[in-house]
Amino acid sequence: MDGPDRLRLLERAVTASTNSIVISDPNQPDYPLVYVNPAFERTTGYASEEVLGRNCRFLQDEDRDQPALGELRTAVREGRHCTVVLRNYRKDGTLFWNELSIYPVRDEEGRMTSFVGVQNDITERIRADEILSEIRRAERRRIARDLHDIVLQDLSGALQSLRLTHLQAKRSGTSLDFEEELGALGRASSGLRSAIYDLRREKERPFLESVESLVELNQQATPEREIRLVVEEGFDVGLSGKESVELLRVLQEALTNVRRHSAARNVEVGLRTEDEAILIEVADDGRGFDRGSGRAGVGLSAMRERVEGLGGEIEVSSRPGRGTEVKVRIHPGGGTPDPGRL
Ligand SMILES: Cc1cc2nc3c(=O)[nH]c(=O)nc-3n(C[C@H](O)[C@H](O)[C@H](O)COP(=O)(O)O)c2cc1C
Repeated sequence: MDGPDRLRLLERAVTASTNSIVISDPNQPDYPLVYVNPAFERTTGYASEEVLGRNCRFLQDEDRDQPALGELRTAVREGRHCTVVLRNYRKDGTLFWNELSIYPVRDEEGRMTSFVGVQNDITERIRADEILSEIRRAERRRIARDLHDIVLQDLSGALQSLRLTHLQAKRSGTSLDFEEELGALGRASSGLRSAIYDLRREKERPFLESVESLVELNQQATPEREIRLVVEEGFDVGLSGKESVELLRVLQEALTNVRRHSAARNVEVGLRTEDEAILIEVADDGRGFDRGSGRAGVGLSAMRERVEGLGGEIEVSSRPGRGTEVKVRIHPGGGTPDPGRL
């Protein structure tokens, strides 16, 4: 294809693109726009003759206090590519979320001849995310209310009558003793209170903080067993909300299995990273089990399903009398769990 044909083809592609594409001139003061494609006119409502010669910042209107602007300004100054998300305004004043990528174009000598901007209107995606978060928040509030108004009230009622019976039994000199039951119920109600408190907190908590409180809750529920959390120094993970929720459930299931079946005295929960993957290990020194005994299936298939839904792997090793170790490995962003299970 010769030069003019190639150019015509490129022009047609840019004109037909559903993404807004603009070109600004870095060799004129304040980088004025020298080209905008029809998609830009459709998205913003401005005709090209209204905007050519102006710097594209007019799309921000008065909304100039945006953290992403700092990054964009530096990239423009240094003639670098960058992608940012900005609040922009159409000609009719309505807000749209603009995912903007800018690309410097250079000649053979490396001089910048133009700056190309590709704009993607992601307003729908942001709205859908906001709606989803609102649904999640409402669901958390509802669960917290039910737990508080129904379960906690019942539990407190039972605890009080048991306390009374215990006192009466002691006074009458009978050998009935509810010390242990009272302790367990007391721990259950304080665990429930802190779970309700967590549910009511509006902001989702960072993964590590949630693991810490999960381990603490399990420790409170079984004080006879030592549960240690060992976190690798600098452990910092960028998990999506769904990934955190699924992993916390897997961890809770592993700890429930320890409580129900292991009779372990010590449990260690380990968190570390290995080549971009996250490793969660739960090891106990309990009675273990024989893989052929059928016990291997207890609670495991649900955990396996969750981990595999995240594109991860789970490995369980155990021998009678030698404890059990559950190892979960996932690559953040590596899978899409079924939202129906959340
Ligand atoms: C090619 C190109 C396209 C741009 N497109 C937009 C845009 O669509 N919306 C926007 O708010 N800013 C856009 N900008 C950024 C502004 O022009 C400006 O660089 C930014 O507001 C930061 O500089 P300032 O603080 O001087 O305004 C674009 C910049 C370049 C170089």
